[in-house]
Amino acid sequence: MKGRDLAIDLGTSNTLVYAHGHGIVYDEPTVVALGSPKGDVLAVGRAAWELAGKTPADVVAARPLQRGVITDFDLTHQMVRLILRSIGAAGRWNKPRILVCVPSFLTPVERRAVQEAVTVAGGRSVALVDEPLAAAIGAGLPIQEPIGNMVVDVGGGTTEIAMVAMGGVVVTKAIKVGGFDMDDAIQEHLRGRHGIAIGDRAAERIKLHLGSAYPAADARALEVTGRELSSGMPKPVTVSPEEIREVLSEPIRIIVETTRDCLAESPPELSHDVLDTGLFLTGGGAMLRGLDMRMAQECEVPVHLTEQPLSTVVVGAGRLLDYLPDYGQAQVLSHRRLP
Ligand SMILES: Nc1ncnc2c1ncn2[C@@H]1O[C@H](COP(=O)(O)OP(=O)(O)OP(=O)(O)O)[C@@H](O)[C@H]1O
Ligand SMILES: [Mg+2]
Repeated sequence: MKGRDLAIDLGTSNTLVYAHGHGIVYDEPTVVALGSPKGDVLAVGRAAWELAGKTPADVVAARPLQRGVITDFDLTHQMVRLILRSIGAAGRWNKPRILVCVPSFLTPVERRAVQEAVTVAGGRSVALVDEPLAAAIGAGLPIQEPIGNMVVDVGGGTTEIAMVAMGGVVVTKAIKVGGFDMDDAIQEHLRGRHGIAIGDRAAERIKLHLGSAYPAADARALEVTGRELSSGMPKPVTVSPEEIREVLSEPIRIIVETTRDCLAESPPELSHDVLDTGLFLTGGGAMLRGLDMRMAQECEVPVHLTEQPLSTVVVGAGRLLDYLPDYGQAQVLSHRRLP
């Protein structure tokens, strides 16, 4: 696969790589395993989780991005280097051109850091595309036309909401609320209400099994075992879907209200289009049970879940590889506004 153009969605939670002509060639958590005492990077992605889980004393798992922003430059470029190597795209003489998806709220300095990290990792020329634009393309929306297309991307660390029309982002809202905040709320609730401590991944499991944003008929109560805070001993407790819905209500309220604000602040003719065509929910958090119904009810527009919410952004960026060989244009495109 040497020399092929790549699109990368470097998410807080998951990293995906799309190779031109191949499709998605990498899809793993954005995690690195660090060995002590020097903090060498031992593995990335799923292998990093496994390694850190097996030998907890001397290997720790770290996330190089927080809330969509690179917080550890060295770890990021080492991680991307290993990813490129793992997919056979790290040729010394034949480096790939890379289009990286970034949150629209990144500052110029943060954008520069992404470009540099990916260049140091082995990219030949590195361009950026705003995630809402890539999401709209990945959702198959007619973004070049003078009609309003709305996308809501609920990720792990961020939620980005954008109105896209005529090839550009017209109104965008980003909040630092996503799936991780739902997991945190669950952890806090189990501490406060049931007196037990659970880990991040256990909290995510509870969210996937029981979480909802709208009363759902099918969810059943779940028995969860955590460490009792008072005794330090394992203790099972039963958690109900209604209870978890209540716990998730605050992050969900913020996501839904910000979506309403974005609709309200968009030019009326574009929000009117959304009344007909509906808004498109994407990102892993979009799969929370009932979020689509809740959005539809509160925003009073039809809501569609994209086909593969976890890969919509990278697929959209992958399509840009087809149509925009001149990467300079991708950047101009992402910032263009309606007159
Ligand atoms: N079925 C599901 N129900 C609810 N949440 C889910 C589901 N599947 C995945 N998620 C959540 O989606 C989040 C990851 O989504 P995604 O991969 O889109 O984020 P990301 O792109 O890495 O993050 P960001 O865009 O914030 O940088 C995680 O918080 C995960 O728990
Ligand atoms: Mg994302």
